[in-house]
Parts: sequence; structure tokens; C-alpha cells
Amino acid sequence: MRKKVILMTGAAGEIGHSLIQRLSDEGRAEIVTLDLKPLDPEIARRVRHPIAGSILDRALLETILAEYAVETVFHLAAQLSTRAEFSPVAAHEVNVNGTLNLLEFAQAQGRGQGRSVTFLYPSSIAVYGFASLEEKHAAGRVREYQYTEPITMYGCNKLYCEQLGRYYSRHYRQLDVETGRSWVDFRSIRFPGLISAFTVPSGGTSDYAPEMIHHAARNVPYDCFVRPDTRIPFMAMPDAVDALLALAAADRSRLTQTVYNIAAFNPSAEEIQQMVLASFPDARIGYRPDLKRQAIVDSWPEAVDDSKARADWGFSPRYGLESAFADYLIPNIRERYRR
Ligand code: SER
Repeated sequence: MRKKVILMTGAAGEIGHSLIQRLSDEGRAEIVTLDLKPLDPEIARRVRHPIAGSILDRALLETILAEYAVETVFHLAAQLSTRAEFSPVAAHEVNVNGTLNLLEFAQAQGRGQGRSVTFLYPSSIAVYGFASLEEKHAAGRVREYQYTEPITMYGCNKLYCEQLGRYYSRHYRQLDVETGRSWVDFRSIRFPGLISAFTVPSGGTSDYAPEMIHHAARNVPYDCFVRPDTRIPFMAMPDAVDALLALAAADRSRLTQTVYNIAAFNPSAEEIQQMVLASFPDARIGYRPDLKRQAIVDSWPEAVDDSKARADWGFSPRYGLESAFADYLIPNIRERYRR
């Protein structure tokens, strides 16, 4: 009998780091991870089998298929929005072809086991795209189907893979009488910018918020790369992890869509700065907008409508802006940098 496990790609990234801790604290299923980068030793010891490798390596995916009965896939591996703009073709390779490989993997797993594989896919506010700041301000809270004209390669990749996932879930090989059955139960969350107390992101465009906080905690000056009035949605990492687990556990019959917005708070860069200064009054935070990265953030919504996630699977974040700082970020960051 093959071992029943969770497969997590991109496990060395920020979401993976927190998700592995949560899953192992709760003694849930055993975890197999796949990432090019090694896991932190503290995280690796919580994993049954950390595999160093690429989601583009189909032979490697075949060996995982033969060895394990994967019940749930958390497909977290991706090149984020800033990094992807420097090598768009490589980003497309990882973000789209990598996802296609994982969907095929899940389909084969499900067929082999005779039961659907739950496939969790983090999408992003980067799937949205406004033509101008005026349009962004006028739009306010956006629904899942509105303004989906992303301006980044990463946003295009995420939007298309949401569609691929829906296809694998509902319409896979629809003309094939023999094998035309979907074994993939695809579920996706469009995450806002995420802020963790324990890790810092790399290669994203919402990175200014976590960078501002972590620099202040380390007493290192920071120049924010967007204007003070820049506003997009953010969320504390524990709420992001809770959301993934809640959507994974949701009764499929209650899910009316495959892709869901979720929201927590929508601060401007200046409001984040003020929260940081309240705890680290001597923090040196300036502004030096990078006009190109600014344009990307300006194309993202200032708020999203998450009423479907609340109604279908009970999404309800623990942290607002104040409580995220007071109860999660500041105490843990102080402890981390001992300040
Ligand atoms: N946080 C991501 C980024 O900045 C968006 O999903 O690329």
C-alpha cells in the first residue's frame, strides 16, 4: 500500500513555511514537499520526505506518483510578480507549465486511487488590472469576475491557471467516453499581500509592507518603493493559512465557484508606516517610489469583495490591521529580532 500524504510544492516559500508548521502542530497527514530550495532545518524535520527538485521535472513527479497516495496537493510554487517581469518566459514556464504538470499529476493520482484529489491553488490580487488610478479608485471593492485584465506576467499566469484548474475540475477530457472523468477537485484563493512575522518575501511587488516592518524591527533604514497613499489589500499570514485549510476542508457541494477572493484589511503604505512607528518610534522609513513597481501596485485593487468565501465556506479572518500588529506581528517580530 502506498503511503497517504499531502504533497506541497514551493514548500520553502513563505506560505509553505507557515502551512507546514500548522499541519505538523495539528498532527495532520504526513507531508511530502517539493522545492528547488532546501527547507529550513526546523521545518524539514516536520516533513516526512522533503524532495529537492523542480515541478517541471515530470520524471520526478512520476516517482512521487508511484511511491505515494497523495490526497491533497498544495501547489504553492511560483515566481512572484516582480521577479517574473525580469524573465517572463521562464516565469511562464514555472507558473503555467509547472501548474499543468501538477494538475496532470493530481488527475493521475485521483484516477489511480478512485477518489478525487483536493488541489489547493493560491492565486492573487495580481489577476486584477486597472487601466488607471482613477479606475482603481472608482472600482472600490471588486468581485471575482470584475477587472480581470492583469498587467503582469505573474497575474496572467495566475488568471489562466485558475481557468485550467476549473477545466480539470469540471470539464476534463469531456469528449472522451472512456477516460473522461475528472479526479481533480480544484479550489483556489486569490490572496492579498501577505505579511508574516517569521519570514520575508522575495520577488513580489507587495513586499514593501513586510519589508517596512522587518527593517524597522531590525533597526535598519527602509525606503518604501511605492507612494505613501498606495492602497492594496493585505492579510496576516495565520489568516492565509487558516483560509487554505478551511477551503480544503469545505464540503464540495457548498462551493459555488472554484476561485474565491478573501480580504482582511486595506491599509495605505502610510498607514502601515504609522502602525510600525507606533511600536518602533525610532524607525527610519522614507519613500523612494520606483515608478515601474508603483504602476504594478496601482493596477491592483484597493479592496476585494469576499462575500462568496464568507457564504460558501465560512471565511472570517482573525486579524484586522490593529490586531494583526498588536497580537501577531509585533510580539513575534520583537521575539525574532530580540528588540
Ligand atoms: N504578493 C504577490 C506579489 O507581490 C502577489 O500575489 O507578487
